[in-house]
Amino acid sequence: MRQKVGIIGRGVVGKALIDQLGQLNGFEIAGVAVKNRAKHKDLPRKWRVDRVEDLVENEEVAIIIEAINNSQDSFDYAVKTLENGKTYISASKKMVADNLAALQRAEEKGGGKLLFEAAVGGAIPIIRTLNEHFRAEPVKKVRGILNGSCNYILTRMREDRLSFEMALKEAQKKGFAETDPTTDVEGFDTMHKAILIAYTLNRSTPEFTRIKVEGIRSVSLQDVREAKKRNEKIKLVATVQEVKGKYSIDIRPTIIGTDDELFAVDNELNAVEISGAYSGPILLKGAGAGGHPTASAIIGDLLNFQNRRAALFQKLLMAI
Ligand code: HSE
Repeated sequence: MRQKVGIIGRGVVGKALIDQLGQLNGFEIAGVAVKNRAKHKDLPRKWRVDRVEDLVENEEVAIIIEAINNSQDSFDYAVKTLENGKTYISASKKMVADNLAALQRAEEKGGGKLLFEAAVGGAIPIIRTLNEHFRAEPVKKVRGILNGSCNYILTRMREDRLSFEMALKEAQKKGFAETDPTTDVEGFDTMHKAILIAYTLNRSTPEFTRIKVEGIRSVSLQDVREAKKRNEKIKLVATVQEVKGKYSIDIRPTIIGTDDELFAVDNELNAVEISGAYSGPILLKGAGAGGHPTASAIIGDLLNFQNRRAALFQKLLMAI
């Protein structure tokens, strides 16, 4: 049976997702909700819906995928979906990071499930790796580059001597930056992603001892050039650490030498270094922003949903 999927948003990520879903077996698009219908006249008639509620409240739709920029709307749809017992797949890191406890309550109340792989590190399967691969192994520290726009800006400043403003404009043109790019350059987008990593490690809403955020606005072209002369790079690095069940987050521009795995992570690439208690550091690297990479992470969540559903059916069959 093909699972019916409702999609909210048809921006850069939404369009890439529709494209990728067309090549995936087992799922069928039930409808695509868009805010401004005049902008989406080319949306096929069979997918048009009047309201998001037509998807969220549709008994036949088991999964809602959301890729929009409005956190408040996203939160409202998430709560309704989870309370309806459905799966809600979100790429909205701010929405999830700001509302962890409320979303967890909605999951518990309705039996729905929130999945957010696409919200952290673009295409990199960081959440699944922490949830599945490190299920039994304590992870004390995760560190990495989690914002494609900042990494892109710092790379262009280093390699092409572009000013901060010019590099930011390029990042915006390429669709990496948030609608309000201050979220990227001041480090808050990275902070939201770091909070989601802590939430995943803790398997519940975590307690934080400290969250320190410094973005890249203070990094001058001269700083970047001087680092280059010393064969170093400046990167916005996030560190999530756990001590006695409590978490700390530290985000700051950091000087990186050639001996650091993060040295080779340039442009919009992201990388996450997971230090398991027994595994030692493991590095995951990949595209951190952009339509198709983000949609690929959403597809990963869909397959996760499919696997959990198959396991549940198996369990039910065994019980009969
Ligand atoms: N603005 C974000 C970034 C998009 O630049 O990384 C992906 O989360």
